[in-house]
Amino acid sequence: MGIISRFFTGSGPSASSPSSLGHSVSDLRQKIYKLETANEKYRARLAERIEMNKTLKNVVDTQKSELNAMRINSRKDLTLERIDTFFTGTKLRLPEEAYQRFLAKCKDNATEDKIKVFREEMDKTQHRAFYEQLFSVEMDMAQGFDFTGLRPIVTFQRGKTDIAYAKSKCMSLDELKANHIQITIERFDEIIKKSFINPKRVNSVCEIGAAWGAATRYMLNRYAPEDYHVYEIDTGWAQWLKDNLGVDSKQCDGESLSETSDNSMDICVASSCLYFMPFVKQWNYLTEFARVLKPGGIAVFNVNLIENTTVRTLKGLLANYFPRRSFGYIPQHCVDTAFPEDKFEKLVKEPAKGFGYQVYRKR
Ligand SMILES: C[S@@+](CC[C@H](N)C(=O)[O-])C[C@H]1O[C@@H](n2cnc3c(N)ncnc32)[C@H](O)[C@@H]1O
Repeated sequence: MGIISRFFTGSGPSASSPSSLGHSVSDLRQKIYKLETANEKYRARLAERIEMNKTLKNVVDTQKSELNAMRINSRKDLTLERIDTFFTGTKLRLPEEAYQRFLAKCKDNATEDKIKVFREEMDKTQHRAFYEQLFSVEMDMAQGFDFTGLRPIVTFQRGKTDIAYAKSKCMSLDELKANHIQITIERFDEIIKKSFINPKRVNSVCEIGAAWGAATRYMLNRYAPEDYHVYEIDTGWAQWLKDNLGVDSKQCDGESLSETSDNSMDICVASSCLYFMPFVKQWNYLTEFARVLKPGGIAVFNVNLIENTTVRTLKGLLANYFPRRSFGYIPQHCVDTAFPEDKFEKLVKEPAKGFGYQVYRKR
């Protein structure tokens, strides 16, 4: 019951003698006075609450950004740990002269301040940016390196163009990508055997690099999961996937599944996507797959696998390609450390050479 109705319920003045009228007028005045006092108190309490809420919101915002910073730092630490692991599994070392040549080129173009910040960051992250650039694939949209800004010239953002193209031709994306969609159905039917996972248990799927959603459609049709997390770096595609396939497009940082909890997914999938990124990022994603899979869950992906990377191949690539992007291989031992034998079962014993699909199941 509200304040006003509480004050005005009960019998009102009924008789109309002057004395009873005077009585009820003074009654009414008293009630109005009480009502005003109550309202004032109410307003004061409201104002207090508003202030309290503002303070609480500030506290929550601060804690959120502190948590975020902690998450980013622990992710950075994880990446560095992985680079360490990479070096303990290989004889490969980054040829020093390539870095020096790179810096010399920077000096001709970028300002000293910028180079100083860049070098500090490189030291702190054990030359990670250099590795990323070095191990990235040759792509039409990420071919060059901007020596003034010290970053790749163009990054992946093809979704909007493809979507606009389909529209201009009065085609649906299904029509435009019919070929990819059909190939994916055939490949996945062949690769993901019924024995790999019971379809009834598949409630959650996590996919990276979903683009126009060939693999997404396949997963939705075959398993009808309730939760579908997508991490797509191309914002045009990320939005399209959300609007058209109803998936949950997550904030994508290009290397982690930061919005997906440990042991929460039945299937993780990366179809024709990993080899478009540097091996450090491929590796991050694979170890993230290992983290978010439930026991019994499967990871399905294809990579451009090589047995080993040697200093000789690295030097050759640097001489011929660097700073243009060169190749998207991932050494076998990186995949092995992401899915260690005691924790994962390798379900495709001999993946096809080149870009063959692999499937691992968490024990
Ligand atoms: C060839 S398309 C993928 C095709 C799609 N998976 C299918 O089922 O046909 C490659 C996609 O990977 C995305 N991609 C590239 N690097 C990425 C990264 N670091 N994180 C997430 N997505 C990425 C690109 O934006 C692009 O949309």
